Amino acid sequence: MVHNMAIIGYGGMGGWHHSSIREMVPELRVKGAYDIRQEIQQKISANGLHAYQSVEELLADETVELVTIAVPNNFHKDYAIACLKAGKNVVCEKPVTLNAAELEEIIAVSKEEGKLFTVHQNRRWDRDYRVVKNILESGVIGKPYFIETRVQGSRGSMHGWRGYKENGGGMLYDWGVHLLDQLLDMIPSRVVSVSAHLESVFTEEVDDNVKLMLLFENGVSALMEFSTNCFINHPRWHVSCTEGTAVVENWECDGKIVKLAENAEQMKWEDDIVYTAAGPTRTMAPRPAHTTQVLELPKVDTKWEDYYRNIVGVLEQKEELIVKPEQALRVMKLIDMVFGAVEHGGIATCYI
Ligand SMILES: NC(=O)c1ccc[n+]([C@@H]2O[C@H](COP(=O)([O-])OP(=O)(O)OC[C@H]3O[C@@H](n4cnc5c(N)ncnc54)[C@H](O)[C@@H]3O)[C@@H](O)[C@H]2O)c1
Repeated sequence: MVHNMAIIGYGGMGGWHHSSIREMVPELRVKGAYDIRQEIQQKISANGLHAYQSVEELLADETVELVTIAVPNNFHKDYAIACLKAGKNVVCEKPVTLNAAELEEIIAVSKEEGKLFTVHQNRRWDRDYRVVKNILESGVIGKPYFIETRVQGSRGSMHGWRGYKENGGGMLYDWGVHLLDQLLDMIPSRVVSVSAHLESVFTEEVDDNVKLMLLFENGVSALMEFSTNCFINHPRWHVSCTEGTAVVENWECDGKIVKLAENAEQMKWEDDIVYTAAGPTRTMAPRPAHTTQVLELPKVDTKWEDYYRNIVGVLEQKEELIVKPEQALRVMKLIDMVFGAVEHGGIATCYI
């Protein structure tokens, strides 16, 4: 069975949803789209879709079962509620809303109407993320205690509407939601404290350099960074576990695992001082090479289109929803905490 869908907002991401679904998800058919700009309406027609002349026309189309919302962030809530009230199932782009209260309103309407509501947290299907999740789940290097996760661009300020507060601009909303969603999906524990440092280095109204430190109830801590002006990047992931360290350098998944060698005994401290290039030290003395082994990162199989396949499975009542609105709500509560923390010295305790 093929399900008809429509898209609201046919810019960079709306157009991408259309072309990707057309290529990879034959169970869905994008029937049409609506965009507020006339020149984009022409593009919608040129791309072989019906260009709805208004949202009302789109919502009145009874053949449309699912609507994807891909407009700037401040318009997500009103469109989501309008779609749900018109009986449509909804996929909303991230960040789902500007705060937790807005999302709670949407969730209430989706329950009242009995319609599906979910968020395009596509980065749960990213290979670098799946590699790290696989390492933690397999226990190959023991238990995690510190995770560093970063995305660092080098273009300077935030671009277009992403530079304005009114539109929900800034790096925390833009990339922070992806990395927070990944982390919460990976660590089965509550967050008990957040330290936050938000800077606006090049963008006047919103943050473009964010550092967060999260502490989970199970003892894992995570350092997160999303920034726009870095010319020599840190690794995408650096994961410290009780029996080894894993590094994923980039989205291509270059990297390695270094772990204790099989049957290697714990290191004994030398009685004598050790001389390194930086002078004498015992604490930082390097391990002898034979006490460790280097492993390749695990191979994982992941496909973005499984995101929409899951939605088709939910519409056909064959599958449970993967990206649950309650999970998005946890992320939004953390974002609320971060903005609150910034106003109160940068640190907040919580139970999220
Ligand atoms: N999940 C991801 O990987 C990912 C990647 C990029 C963007 N996004 C999200 O997608 C959404 C859109 O981002 P984008 O990069 O496509 O932006 P964009 O500026 O390229 O496109 C937005 C489109 O929405 C239209 N629009 C603006 N206001 C509108 C309104 N009130 N009604 C109807 N149309 C309106 C604009 O004319 C434009 O064509 C944002 O929420 C963004 O955070 C997600």
